[in-house]
Amino acid sequence: MVKICCIGAGYVGGPTMAVIALKCPSIEVAVVDISITRINAWNSDQLPIYEPGLEDVVKQCRGKNLFFSTDVEKHVSEADIIFVSVNTPTKTRGLGAGKAADLTYWESAARMIADVSKSNKIVVEKSTVPVKTAEAIEKILTHNSKGINFQILSNPEFLAEGTAIQDLLKPDRVLIGGRETPDGQKAIQALKDVYAHWVPEDRILATNLWSAELSKLAANAFLAQRISSVNAMSALCEATGADVTQVSHAVGKDSRIGPKFLNASVGFGGSCFQKDILNLVYICECNGLPEVANYWKQVIKVNDYQKNRFVNRVVSSMFNTVSGKKIAVLGFAFKKDTGDTRETPAIDVCKGLLGDKARLSIYDPQVSEEQIQRDLSMNKFDWDHPLHLQPLSPTAVKQVSVVWDAYEATKDAHGVCILTEWNEFKTLDYQRIYDNMRKPAFVFDGRNIVNAEKLREIGFIVYSIGKPLDPWLEDMPAVA
Ligand SMILES: NC(=O)c1ccc[n+]([C@@H]2O[C@H](COP(=O)([O-])OP(=O)(O)OC[C@H]3O[C@@H](n4cnc5c(N)ncnc54)[C@H](O)[C@@H]3O)[C@@H](O)[C@H]2O)c1
Repeated sequence: MVKICCIGAGYVGGPTMAVIALKCPSIEVAVVDISITRINAWNSDQLPIYEPGLEDVVKQCRGKNLFFSTDVEKHVSEADIIFVSVNTPTKTRGLGAGKAADLTYWESAARMIADVSKSNKIVVEKSTVPVKTAEAIEKILTHNSKGINFQILSNPEFLAEGTAIQDLLKPDRVLIGGRETPDGQKAIQALKDVYAHWVPEDRILATNLWSAELSKLAANAFLAQRISSVNAMSALCEATGADVTQVSHAVGKDSRIGPKFLNASVGFGGSCFQKDILNLVYICECNGLPEVANYWKQVIKVNDYQKNRFVNRVVSSMFNTVSGKKIAVLGFAFKKDTGDTRETPAIDVCKGLLGDKARLSIYDPQVSEEQIQRDLSMNKFDWDHPLHLQPLSPTAVKQVSVVWDAYEATKDAHGVCILTEWNEFKTLDYQRIYDNMRKPAFVFDGRNIVNAEKLREIGFIVYSIGKPLDPWLEDMPAVA
């Protein structure tokens, strides 16, 4: 029986391995992690991450051919194929701080693999890593190998949170990079054989190692660039009276462009886009390509601009101050159908409003109070370290209350900011909300999900991103 071990039981490792176990009953899959709480949660009824369809898959395989364990060394030493899916956060200090990937967790995983291995292994990079990481890992492994043969493959993960299970069951492509040697090709074939249990052969692409590593960074940079492009247009739409939804619909009809990823919003978030672009920028700079680096940097600058613009709209519409005013924040996760808050635009928007001394009442159907307080008191980039290594702020943010109901959040509020596109926010009883708010009552829709006309009929002053402005807002330009 082929044995697979995955180091890192996170958003990628957990769902990916669950689907491999589901589709390959003849393979034994062990997911290991240094976080005891995370592994305990994977073994309980309350999984550590929320992802539609995940619970079902885990329940079908757990205890049969899918195991979650903290016994990292045992499972690594027994495995034929080892996936490494640990955190690769942005460095916060030293060389490349603020841009380069921090490979501390990766390196310690590689050293441990070298220490405990007694047989040949295929080591698969699942984490998103800088180009040429495989070479560094190869050096660590071969210099400590005791004669064991290690083949390194790059198999970046393209799943999107919120649709992870569907993405894994029906991937657009599976990318496997390996050495162009006979042993390298054999290793590629072994991993292809795993995916071939359910992925059509023409969707499994084999490349060299560096192309696979770079393709992942490039794909995320292209996706984020689309969002920043439409968000840049949204500012121009507001200035000219155009409607960004109509513009992106018209643009997306061009088959060369396509309709996906063209929704204007308060900005992109998630653990990957910003981190991977910063990483790409750093690699460009290290390779003497400042023009290319600056091109990609702009994608992040526009994202920051969009979040600032949103905060400025809120403050300037409300007589230039939100000091002491209650603002309801609906949605904190970086997008719907996930509880993940890493790099969520809600953090910057909330911090911006708190900077102007607002009182916030936050509701998100999937994010806990502890997580929100932690996010609002954490330094940039700290969020992407393993949970148990993140600092817990001794003083929770006092101007913030977290509630478990949108009506409670909006009661007596002066304004409502919609920051995540949860479906339930589309069908709230906005008349009831209006009746219980202070007047004038404002709605700032950071995801363009409410029917602005209907809300205006009720009496709200409504700001929708990239849409013709409410007369109230017209004389209050929000320049970041
Ligand atoms: N989240 C996504 O949507 C996504 C998508 C594609 C790729 N990625 C990439 O995949 C990688 C993992 O991301 P994630 O979102 O799953 O992160 P995560 O923080 O959810 O999970 C990583 C896990 O690795 C564990 N870990 C760290 N060092 C370890 C070690 N030495 N031994 C054992 N366990 C260790 C941590 O405790 C943590 O549970 C990152 O490189 C990320 O960029 C993420």
